[in-house]
Amino acid sequence: MASSSFYAIDDSQEVVMRHLWLHFTRMSALADGDVPMIVRGSGPYVFDQYGRRYLDGLSGLFVSQVGHGRTEIAEAGARQAAELAYFPLWSYAHPKAIELAARLADLAPGPLNGVFFTTSGSEAVESAWKLAKQYFKLTSEPGRYKVISRDIAYHGMSMGALAITGLADVKHPFEPLPPGGVRVPNTNFYRAPEFVRDDVGAFAKWAADEIERAILREGPESVAAVFLEPVQNTGGCFPPPPGYFQRVREICDRYGVLLVSDEAICAFGRLGYYFGAQRYDYQPDIITFAKGLTSGYSPMGGMLVSDALMEPFTSGTATFLHGVTFAGHPVSAAVALANLDIFEKEDLLGNVRANEAAFRATLEKLYDLPIVGDVRGAGYFYGIELVKDKVTKETFSSEESEWLLRGFLSHALFDAGLVCRADDRGDPVIQLSPPLICGQEHFDEIERILRAVLTEAWARI
Ligand SMILES: Cc1ncc(COP(=O)(O)O)c(C=O)c1O
Repeated sequence: MASSSFYAIDDSQEVVMRHLWLHFTRMSALADGDVPMIVRGSGPYVFDQYGRRYLDGLSGLFVSQVGHGRTEIAEAGARQAAELAYFPLWSYAHPKAIELAARLADLAPGPLNGVFFTTSGSEAVESAWKLAKQYFKLTSEPGRYKVISRDIAYHGMSMGALAITGLADVKHPFEPLPPGGVRVPNTNFYRAPEFVRDDVGAFAKWAADEIERAILREGPESVAAVFLEPVQNTGGCFPPPPGYFQRVREICDRYGVLLVSDEAICAFGRLGYYFGAQRYDYQPDIITFAKGLTSGYSPMGGMLVSDALMEPFTSGTATFLHGVTFAGHPVSAAVALANLDIFEKEDLLGNVRANEAAFRATLEKLYDLPIVGDVRGAGYFYGIELVKDKVTKETFSSEESEWLLRGFLSHALFDAGLVCRADDRGDPVIQLSPPLICGQEHFDEIERILRAVLTEAWARI
């Protein structure tokens, strides 16, 4: 128990260390310095307990599409809480969930008309895998349970989602995981194998064909689904090379495997479209979503499911034996609707499409720094790969990377007023994903801070 029910802001460090378990955080390191504490937000900026301002260059965690401090969303949530704070979607419906499901089905590509709500991205991924398994059991292919995903891709942390996630380090402590996760190469063209390095078309074909090879290796009758992000986040934004998704779709169709577009990050404007599949013009069987649907004003996730996948559940006696207490929460649904209203009113998709070339061009100015090896991404979603040698693309050793990212960049960027992510779950990268309301002045601010901090990092290496 806390020693007191009140604490002064000055004591917060101690309270965090004793009681608030931060996610993916080495808690022992907190003794070495202040835990950054964010107390409010306004537009694309957040403020700490001392009133210092930071540009939220990661939208929190790829979440805050419309920016912070939108009272119209807060008020929509409050109105809904006063009217009906909670009722489950287990056998019942409520108006805001109905309205939101219809609106999402309308925005989604093709025959994705079924909406199954969850509260998070991991639950969405977990639900998609469970649906695929039960669907195949109902349609006389009970052997299909395996899922193919890409190297170092992140698909969530619950046990099922973790089995799909391609990051070895975060899996080891929790093994054994549910069986069936199969890995294929990702679309990191900067580090493409030698034989396709100079030909993006050949690279696209090779990377897609690796999925076919995996299906054949595992046995097509055992493979249920392929889970892919439109642009893979982990590793620092790997966009699909042209033609990749079209070829993957053909391969999935050839072997009767479902294509799941995991759009926890890429949906809701991040790439200038409601869904990433629309940008790259492919038709998934399922889209999983979360994060940007509510811009973080309340948690919500879910999956959009094709008519064909829903059919055995709508025409026969089968029940999808799966549910989540808070899924489709009335307050979250009201918040999501208010969030989507802002998308429309302010034409946020148009803003991203109009400004994405300027965002890229501003970040590409950093190419004159010796440490910047690759600037890649799409829409308002970019990764900057840091290298030791631009010509050879030599990367940093794990000790150098540890110092560079955790010992220096994370703190220095934050201290300089930029929230972003310095990450080395693949090669060292800086990840950027600003709110969709940003424009040139914010791109310039990002570039200015990165330039100063990366220049200092290079001088200290
Ligand atoms: C592509 C993808 N899938 C799934 C997840 C898991 O989402 P959550 O953290 O809401 O469970 C994430 C989270 O970042 C993600 O990026």
